[in-house]
Amino acid sequence: MDVIKINGGKALAGSVTTSGAKNAALPLLFSTLLAEGEHIFENVPSLKDIDSTELLLHHLNCTTSRQGSDLKVIVKRPESLVAPYDIVRKMRASILCLGPLLARYGEAKVSLPGGCAIGSRPINLHIEPLQQLGANIEIENGYVIAEAKKLRGDRIVFDFATVGGTENIMMAATLCRGTTVLENVAKEPEIVDLARYLRSMGARIEGEGSSVITIEGVDELRPSTHRVIPDRIEAGTLLIAGAITGGDVKVKNCVAADLDSLIQKLVDCGFSIETGSDWVRVRPCDQWIAVDVDTAPHPGFPTDLQAQFMALMTQASGTSVVTERIFENRFMHVQELARMGANITPKSQVAVVRGERGGLSGAPVMATDLRASACLILAGLATEGETIVNRIYHLDRGYEHLEEKLRSLGARIERRAA
Ligand code: UD1
Repeated sequence: MDVIKINGGKALAGSVTTSGAKNAALPLLFSTLLAEGEHIFENVPSLKDIDSTELLLHHLNCTTSRQGSDLKVIVKRPESLVAPYDIVRKMRASILCLGPLLARYGEAKVSLPGGCAIGSRPINLHIEPLQQLGANIEIENGYVIAEAKKLRGDRIVFDFATVGGTENIMMAATLCRGTTVLENVAKEPEIVDLARYLRSMGARIEGEGSSVITIEGVDELRPSTHRVIPDRIEAGTLLIAGAITGGDVKVKNCVAADLDSLIQKLVDCGFSIETGSDWVRVRPCDQWIAVDVDTAPHPGFPTDLQAQFMALMTQASGTSVVTERIFENRFMHVQELARMGANITPKSQVAVVRGERGGLSGAPVMATDLRASACLILAGLATEGETIVNRIYHLDRGYEHLEEKLRSLGARIERRAA
């Protein structure tokens, strides 16, 4: 299994380009199941999670072909409406095939995704709204078995602004009879991107990006073409890479407005940030100060940048309180950072980080999930000596060529067979 080896302590410099957003591409690829024919997406990152999605689409009788970052999906009526455990267990987002299959074909059998390292991650906020739209749903032998002759629009108030739940129900509602009003929905840019694609397929949706989305059902949708938005989490990770090394990094092909909460925190730390129409630049800073951060649904601070920001806080002057409010178990990077010498006290969903510039030393560490991998790489970049990050298959699920991008900024980082 590959590892990543880093010899840190070097300020990064230069410009780097963000890839397409994983979390936008996944729901977009599942939305193709709503309409047979040829769908074309540009700016699709090459990642393990995209491979898993393609595998599931193949299983559902679709074909996919890639040219560079363009991905073509040809959708045909599935022979079987089953999303099997072996594929779903590789990627939780597979549950996003449930809404489209049910709405389009009147039935679906999708394996329960199960928990994952960062928390139990139930799917009640996917299931209950579909029941409210008229689906009969049973859980049997580890599968969600759903059936509905025709879904009917309704008013649905989400208990929590779930990203995946909002996407699944939004897709299902496009083919409902009548109007569906979704309240307290997620406002993430990836939701907005999905709504745009669904609209280009002929769906009648409004309100995306606000907390209420209204969808008037149509009889059928048609395939379309679409450019996936840039990955704001990758862009944020690259900005923090610049910041944590005291470097000067311009991240291109990103939307500054989608990174507002991170940019604000970096400014509070003392970094100087410049933004343009499609780029953000972080300038060198010798000593930044600790700031507190609480994760929250968009436009709050993203949970997917919490681990990377914590790495930055280990190098700040002062004490930072990091509170994780989205997932119950997303501090697994803490003990690995501690192996590098970080002074962090975690308690439940709060971690107190006592920062010290240069206070880390290189060590072998273990990546436990996708964003934890990025956090450990960032810590390694900030550290004199050698850091070896093990289990980097997590990284390949969600970052396209991260080590190559960092190398282009001057980082001494390489991938090696262990
Ligand atoms: C998506 C992102 C993930 C990000 C997360 C929060 C994708 C593919 N993944 O995950 O990278 O970290 O949003 O921004 O886009 N919950 C329930 N019941 C449900 C669904 C969710 O209780 O039915 C809870 C979860 O356990 C979690 C919280 O709601 O505590 C947020 O989850 P959600 O927004 O649904 O995250 P995902 O869509 O899984």
